[in-house]
Amino acid sequence: MYKIIDLQIKGDYRGSLIAIEENVNIPFSIKRIYYIFDTKHGVTRGQHAHINLKQLLIAVNGSCTVSLDDGKNKGCVKLNSPSSGLFIEKMLWREMYDFSNDCVLLVLANKEYSESDYLRNYSEFLKYVNNV
Ligand code: TYD
Repeated sequence: MYKIIDLQIKGDYRGSLIAIEENVNIPFSIKRIYYIFDTKHGVTRGQHAHINLKQLLIAVNGSCTVSLDDGKNKGCVKLNSPSSGLFIEKMLWREMYDFSNDCVLLVLANKEYSESDYLRNYSEFLKYVNNV
């Protein structure tokens, strides 16, 4: 399951500000934050699923496209606004591509980094979703 969460912009004459609060405007507790930037032209990132991780992706600058696949249905979302958060539940194969040169992709996650939570092989992912 994935969905776009519209993040409210608190704007005034000085400009804009967005606040993200765990379990308030996003549906999980935040354990980790990382950001992807300086992505080289033509690169595809992601290409994995997480067994048990919730994430929110925000293109805080620039844009990129995210494709999502639950083993049966596929979708695709373009992120090009700091006020659009893409919430991604566990067990979705994701790929990020078409990064603009200036893209900064901010990711909030509900768990610390753990390589054992990754499925990095697509056939392994399909086997896993069909057995759960
Ligand atoms: P990876 O998850 O493969 O990046 P992406 O899916 O965004 O392309 O991570 C790239 C490298 O960074 C890999 O060696 C693992 C490391 N890494 C961490 O050490 N901590 C983290 O929180 C993340 C997301 C990755």
